[in-house]
Amino acid sequence: MVLDLFAGCGGMALGFESVGFETIGYEMLGDACDTYSSNLCGECHQVFLEPGMDLGPDADVIIGGPPCQPFSVGGKQGGKGDRRDGFPAFISAVEMYQPRLAMFENVRGMLYRNKNYFHSIVTELMALGYVVEHKLIRAVEHGVPQKRERLFVVAHRGEWRFPKKLGREYFTAGDAIGDIAFATNEDSKFLTKSMDVYVAKYEKKSQCVRPRDLHLDRPSRTVTCRNLNGATGDMLRVKLPDGRRKRLTVREGARLQSFPDWFRFSGSVGSQFNQIGNAVPPLLARELAKSVMEYLNKSPILTTNEIQKLNQPKQPLLF
Ligand SMILES: C[S@@+](CC[C@H](N)C(=O)[O-])C[C@H]1O[C@@H](n2cnc3c(N)ncnc32)[C@H](O)[C@@H]1O
Repeated sequence: MVLDLFAGCGGMALGFESVGFETIGYEMLGDACDTYSSNLCGECHQVFLEPGMDLGPDADVIIGGPPCQPFSVGGKQGGKGDRRDGFPAFISAVEMYQPRLAMFENVRGMLYRNKNYFHSIVTELMALGYVVEHKLIRAVEHGVPQKRERLFVVAHRGEWRFPKKLGREYFTAGDAIGDIAFATNEDSKFLTKSMDVYVAKYEKKSQCVRPRDLHLDRPSRTVTCRNLNGATGDMLRVKLPDGRRKRLTVREGARLQSFPDWFRFSGSVGSQFNQIGNAVPPLLARELAKSVMEYLNKSPILTTNEIQKLNQPKQPLLF
């Protein structure tokens, strides 16, 4: 059983289910829970996670995406002092359930201003008897048509191997949405003239060499809640042959995140965009889940001494 904390709409869980894991989600937002429960085999419980909570069944694996806002370079990077910090609840669950493996995902901003806090999280997991390894993973190297890069941290007690990058050319935005990108209908949203002016100014000010429209011949920029939702200069959009700029639809955003078309999101368009932007791309999650399955099936369980030895020269932080 996989307990999926801060589960969102289930991007990570979809990858895990696709290789045969059973998952249970825990998430505070109703729309995200609804999306999870109506698309996945596992159920998502609507709860506000706090340290010390009894989550029910035993777990071989705990996965989670504690909120990234406290660490995002686009925000204040309050880290531990931010009331949205989910790590106390995550670590508490690992302590209570003692899973064979725990994994969390976050933004690389955790390694900057909050590197000391990151280090203390790693130390706490080590103190619970785990070998802890981290890696920045580029989604594009795992079949996702997007330049997303995220930090993955794995606490384990055996021989863990991060997934190898897939040995093939990257998928492009065109591979994912080429058949629908230029389609318009009465629901299509376009940038207004004043937004076009704003975009032009933004590009000039930020010394943007190439326009930030989606280029179908290469992977997309990172899909985030902000650039799907917000009327900002860096929002994701397609430039149509007639010069108009079309904002991405929910389905286009979902495809760039590698969600299959049968996966339907609940809630308002804004809520759906948030669920998509927050998710771990399911194709990347699938590669991670394969590694977890291999670890559970094959890896010998190490002794405490062996674990301490492996943790000895602490994996250096990147910065
Ligand atoms: C980065 S998203 C997780 C995305 C998810 N792993 C996926 O792949 O779809 C973080 C989620 O944590 C939820 N969240 C934040 N604080 C929470 C709390 N204390 N209890 C439960 N859920 C929380 C947010 O609503 C958000 O959906």
